[in-house]
Amino acid sequence: MARKIAAGNWKMNGTEAALAEVEALAGMIGTPDCEVLLCPPATLIDRMVARAEGSVVAVGAQACHPATSGAHTGDIAADMLADAGATQVILGHSERRADHGETDADVAAQAAAALTAGLTAIICVGETEAERDAEVTLNLVASQLAGSIPEGADPARLVVAYEPVWAIGTGRTPTLDQIAEVHTHIRAELTQRLGAAAIDIPLLYGGSVKPGNAAEIFAVNDVDGALVGGASLKAADFAGIVTALSAA
Ligand code: 13P
Repeated sequence: MARKIAAGNWKMNGTEAALAEVEALAGMIGTPDCEVLLCPPATLIDRMVARAEGSVVAVGAQACHPATSGAHTGDIAADMLADAGATQVILGHSERRADHGETDADVAAQAAAALTAGLTAIICVGETEAERDAEVTLNLVASQLAGSIPEGADPARLVVAYEPVWAIGTGRTPTLDQIAEVHTHIRAELTQRLGAAAIDIPLLYGGSVKPGNAAEIFAVNDVDGALVGGASLKAADFAGIVTALSAA
């Protein structure tokens, strides 16, 4: 069984004042039976690490550059994220793919850099609504995975998040059968590529996860947790999701 992870992606939200949510969250969840991760904007990583100290909340990042240093204005290297206290990094989020034109090959290069820096790589895949309507979801997700996982990646430091683009921030979610179909397919693809160790790679579902729908999603086969956007910004909402995962 893969370990369970409740991960929050704060996206481009949060300044100093938002860090009060971390202490509130820690107080609400105690020691749950799952990992808890928050990925704030890079500007808050080291401050969040300080505020989360002594709690179960780990801190991650949302993107990294594939190079270790150099002339890349505005970018951040994986080593720098680790130095700031991040232990994991989200890569290939659909917003990065759309806003910054990141390709599968870019994501693989970023993931290789993240793994070299000692970070866990949370690799995101998922279809647009047009792709789902065209019934290419399973093939697309398989090809995103194949292209985004670097050669020689250590399965123990990989996490995969399935995030249908049309479910992000929309309040819409796939049916439980649709989630099960994609997660089963991802597990099979990972097993084919990485062998038996793929059974231990956490598969997260992301897209409009809320306290109210978390438990039914976590009951789906091969769903080991969630990558949560909007509902990770408020401690009470995210605590509800953590509690549901802990009980799953
Ligand atoms: P929402 O939970 O706001 O739909 O966002 C999901 C997401 O993109 C997490 O990475």
